[in-house]
Amino acid sequence: MVDLNFYTLSLTLLSLLFTLFFIRRLISRGGGTSPPSLPIIGNLHQLGHLPHRSLSNLSRKHGPLMLLHFGPKPVLVVSSADVGNQILKSHDLAFSDKPLTRDLKKVFYNGNDLFNSPYGDRWRKLRRITVHELLSRSRVKSFGSIREEETSLLMRKIEELSSASQPVNLTRMFAAFLNDVIVRAALGKKYSGTEDGERFLEALEEGSRLLGSLRLGDFVPWLSCISCLNGRDAAIDRVVEKRDAFLDKVIQEHLRSSNASKENIMSILVGIYKGDVPGVSIDFVFVKGVILDIFAAGTETTTTPLIWLMTELLRHPTVMKKLQDEIRGTMNGKHHITEDELLKMPYLRAVIKEIFCLHPPLPVFVRVTRDHINLMGYEVAPKTMVVINAWAIGHDPSCWDEPEKFMPERFLNLSRDFKGLDFHLIPFGFGRRVCLGLGFATAVVDHAVANLMLKFDWALPDGATREDLDVTERLGLTNAKDTPLVVFASIRSD
Ligand code: HEM
Repeated sequence: MVDLNFYTLSLTLLSLLFTLFFIRRLISRGGGTSPPSLPIIGNLHQLGHLPHRSLSNLSRKHGPLMLLHFGPKPVLVVSSADVGNQILKSHDLAFSDKPLTRDLKKVFYNGNDLFNSPYGDRWRKLRRITVHELLSRSRVKSFGSIREEETSLLMRKIEELSSASQPVNLTRMFAAFLNDVIVRAALGKKYSGTEDGERFLEALEEGSRLLGSLRLGDFVPWLSCISCLNGRDAAIDRVVEKRDAFLDKVIQEHLRSSNASKENIMSILVGIYKGDVPGVSIDFVFVKGVILDIFAAGTETTTTPLIWLMTELLRHPTVMKKLQDEIRGTMNGKHHITEDELLKMPYLRAVIKEIFCLHPPLPVFVRVTRDHINLMGYEVAPKTMVVINAWAIGHDPSCWDEPEKFMPERFLNLSRDFKGLDFHLIPFGFGRRVCLGLGFATAVVDHAVANLMLKFDWALPDGATREDLDVTERLGLTNAKDTPLVVFASIRSD
């Protein structure tokens, strides 16, 4: 959070200064649907370290559709499923652009990737190729062997620690597991342990940390110098350089390989780049942008729910027991969990939906309007930033009974899903720009959780009680658990 320290300090000083000078003006503006803002920084000082929570608190007071200001820029904040469903039904197209900040432009090839691409012809082409060629149902199925091999490896590592009565650092293990699954699906082989691979992963981690903190200059341009002075701009440049050195090398390897098999995403992309698919042409930046998105949008987002899931199960032993009973009962002595068996586990589905509702990995995501629209009385100008607070929607007491509680039962008789067509549950986004890795991510999570529950019993370290489990959040690119989850596993007794 390089920028944040400097940023917090500057904000505190600015806030104090302006609160003193403009207090009368604030009082005269009053509450309403726009919280009072400070000159120059607007409402930025109200975001705090966990913006999803701060914005959710503000929305309780100012309504599910609020107008804030980040610096001088107006920002609309959506915090309820009702408002969201109106957007989905009537304005999905108008809300389908993404903001391109200075850092995002640098890191994501000027918005030429898929996640950050402005809505338009290039995005449509990227999305079509990704849907049909890279992450289609059959392609995700074909990655099944990678999922199974890596899950078995994860189980073996846990088994070894369990036999030696050693604790298991699940946070570290899940991160390594997801890196290996994604890197094999994307690039065909593992690079962990190689110098290049480690530098690449370090660059991704550093990029995620930097992009997870706010850059003040994006909203107050004359304060851009802060990121230059505190080294943030230079750090972003280093991330881009390290990462590109690796990606360029891997692409060249694939280009040189004469019989590139279509087993991984990079080789499929390189094939299209070389003209293998009649009528479809892509450029070099396209190849890099898509691969980068898969790492940036897919790794941490999929690790985070696995960690929260194990944390909540340890805090709720009766839920864990019910889940183990379902999985062990369905498997009935068998060890190899297939997709068909997963379909016979409704409680597992409910537990996974509950985790995505309670701990959405991307708790807020940001869109930009394309057209002028009227939304619930607000005249919204084109290019207005819109913050969608998925976390607030998942914790809205008018939609969910006891929303703070981990209660998977709520999903047992509810057909609500997270495919982006119903705003009550939007961990994977919504509408046209819904996540393209949904099938990939849920296949990995379902399979891993079912195996963890089938093969092991779980306990907290000696002397720790479930009340001791730390559930503090830390926001970077995703809403992660702040401290590592360290537990004991024992191979199931029955
Ligand atoms: C549990 C894991 C994941 C979560 C919670 C998640 C969440 C999201 C969300 C909320 C969006 C929409 C953001 C917005 O509208 O501004 C999104 C978009 C996207 N996701 Fe995921 N994602 C996950 C895994 C993945 C994986 C594994 C991949 C790739 C293999 C992926 C690729 C993408 C791409 C390419 C987009 C951009 C789609 C577009 O703009 O057209 N995601 N994701």
